[in-house]
Amino acid sequence: MGKKEKTSFVCRNCGHEAIKWMGRCPECGQWNSMVEEVCRPARRQIRRSSAMGPAESLETISLAPEMRLKTGLSEFDRTLGGGVVPGSLILIGGDPGIGKSTIILQVLDRLARQELRALYLSGEESAQQIKLRAERLGICGQDLYVMTGTCIEEFLEHVGGLRPDIVAVDSIQTMYTEDMASAPGSVGQVREVASRLMAYAKGSQIPVFLVGHVTKDGAIAGPKVLEHLVDTVLYFEGDRGHLFRILRAVKNRYGSTNEIGVFEMTDTGLDAVGNPSRLFLEERPEDVPGSAVISCMEGTRPLLVEIQALVGPSPLGMPRRTAIGVDHNRISLLVAVLEKRLGMELGDQDIFVNVAGGLKVDEPATDLGIVSAMMSSFLNRPLARDLVVFGEVGLAGEVRGVSHPELRLNEAGKLGFRHAILPKTSLEGLKSGASMTLSGVGSVQDIYDSLFQG
Ligand code: TYD
Ligand code: MG
Repeated sequence: MGKKEKTSFVCRNCGHEAIKWMGRCPECGQWNSMVEEVCRPARRQIRRSSAMGPAESLETISLAPEMRLKTGLSEFDRTLGGGVVPGSLILIGGDPGIGKSTIILQVLDRLARQELRALYLSGEESAQQIKLRAERLGICGQDLYVMTGTCIEEFLEHVGGLRPDIVAVDSIQTMYTEDMASAPGSVGQVREVASRLMAYAKGSQIPVFLVGHVTKDGAIAGPKVLEHLVDTVLYFEGDRGHLFRILRAVKNRYGSTNEIGVFEMTDTGLDAVGNPSRLFLEERPEDVPGSAVISCMEGTRPLLVEIQALVGPSPLGMPRRTAIGVDHNRISLLVAVLEKRLGMELGDQDIFVNVAGGLKVDEPATDLGIVSAMMSSFLNRPLARDLVVFGEVGLAGEVRGVSHPELRLNEAGKLGFRHAILPKTSLEGLKSGASMTLSGVGSVQDIYDSLFQG
């Protein structure tokens, strides 16, 4: 077609573009990740006649009653903000082996049982393999259709005849479009296939799930190209050493973000966990210094988690600061606050902080838990077993109020906690009395006093 097509080299890991091939990406340092891709001159899309209507006043736009498909898997529906929205494109990302294919198949099965026609397109497994997995999961749906293949054009041809109500594509990295010369899984292919499926979802009002593998640095399909394209991004978290999995909404055009669903991997698939707080506290050690329980908000739900700290003299000239499940910088900051405001000598101590159970928390209210756990370990004095803490700590050593103190306290009350330490301002703003003794703190000095001077 006229001009010769230009090519460039794109890093599969980070999306960095270069005009020549390199063994190592100069941007992210990954070896052997540069692949050649055709950069097409902006292709004239065949314009669909009804794509853009005339402008409309916001006031006159009518709302169709919101219809969501409920899967019946409570934790899954919750993560999506109450069910699947028709015509939405939902990306499910996660490490290989974490359970993406499993949950997708379970979701499709639940919907197929509601007399919806579900279609599962797999580019990774054969129909027999899928059948085997389905048997393991106790699925034998009549309305669940399976297709195997990797060409998106072929798929779009077939899908017209089947007219499904819901579609899942597993995985986006295995699919390709004939329009591009580059290999499946390359940046251009992933982007192009996803936008085809987006057009398909919007045009037909059929919800489409995409499964995407996360690469080492946590980005789907290497670059984050898909995240802004799709309506909803769900990430599967949890390490394989633990049986539970967290599904987290990091983007949602149809609901709140940071909503999480908690599942347990059993030998018959993923089960929703009804009481996650209990699960996270199950293996909490008794009367050991360095363990504090916080009540943190994950989306709209309070969750109790145990923060563990280990503080001890370092044999190294440069003491270690290790954080798992919480932000590393946050630890450095809080250590500095303790040193400056309380005069604690932590400069020559190794400090390890861990969120028990492999959960990741990044809420400011975690601060008080980290601080309490570090103090407890440093002073070698355990905290009360029925104590829960939450609050943000500022650089001046002040403790700042956090949102939803009632919800946090209620959750703690339900699980048998009898004492709570919370920010003074949150305590003053409390509407209803709680069933436990509450101490409001305004500074790290106050925390120290109420933990160890009482
Ligand atoms: P899978 O859904 O294939 O992961 P992904 O699609 O994200 O790569 O899940 C694979 C893991 O789940 C595998 O290690 C086995 C385990 N598993 C169970 O423990 N129980 C089950 O019922 C199933 C189907 C899988
Ligand atoms: Mg899979």
